Amino acid sequence: MSLLLDGRVLSENIRSQIAQEIKEYTSKGYRAPTLAVILVGDDPASQVYVSNKEKACQKVGIRSLSYRLPSNTTTQELLELIAQLNAEEEVDGILVQLPLPPHINQQEILLAINPKKDVDGFHPENMGRLVARMEDGFIPCTPLGIDLLLKHYDIDPKGKDVVIVGAGFIVGRPLSLLMLWRDATVSVCHIYTKDIKEYTKRADILISATGVPRLIKAHMVKEGAVVIDVGISKEGTKIVGDVDFEEVKEKAYAITPVPGGVGPMTVTGLLLNTLKAYKLRFLYVG
Ligand code: GUN
Repeated sequence: MSLLLDGRVLSENIRSQIAQEIKEYTSKGYRAPTLAVILVGDDPASQVYVSNKEKACQKVGIRSLSYRLPSNTTTQELLELIAQLNAEEEVDGILVQLPLPPHINQQEILLAINPKKDVDGFHPENMGRLVARMEDGFIPCTPLGIDLLLKHYDIDPKGKDVVIVGAGFIVGRPLSLLMLWRDATVSVCHIYTKDIKEYTKRADILISATGVPRLIKAHMVKEGAVVIDVGISKEGTKIVGDVDFEEVKEKAYAITPVPGGVGPMTVTGLLLNTLKAYKLRFLYVG
């Protein structure tokens, strides 16, 4: 059995530090950090994610403003709400839960968010800051959470072969930039990759973010690898990841469980980004 990379325990530690820091500010009479959370439509998984984020905010002392909009909301209506929140001095962060309904122009929405309030890090300006290795940008929450998890367990990507399976906009692509920032040799596999296992077998650190349940089997993993599972899929009532945990845990040096690995670290990444936005905008400290 390999080392379990426990995102729950680490999240608890980081979140109690966040709560402590916020208490220091509010006890001086400063207002609390504030996050506006927008959910369009009634996708059940998104509803769960959003309410988890809101609960986590509340627990650390971040004020969250909830905007639940019907699925027939237009791009224009959403743009108007974002403009209003951009202009609102007391709003530090704006999060638009993805995916949006298909009739909404996602690119236009993400471009409209003030980059200084873009706690998801999806605005091209923040993606650009990630490319440029600028510390004052926002790194998307899941890559940020994974980075913190690796750091906590003293796993340094520098010089390692990092293989990412999944090139999505939310995780795979920004994570590949972050791992490059950490001086790893990065390969990114996607649906057009000819033979995924030729890459995964070489990985010192293997990260899967596809949403395909149990895609990664033991024969695809190098002995002693670190395996990070970003997937969250439902198998009946059970939550499973991209990695066949029972098989792979015997071969890996370290592995994240699902649930309790990357999931809580993503939410912790959001809390950290919201605190950062508050400090940069309101306290003028970086
Ligand atoms: N949908 C899935 N993951 C995320 C995320 O990190 N942020 C947002 N806004 N939507 C998501």
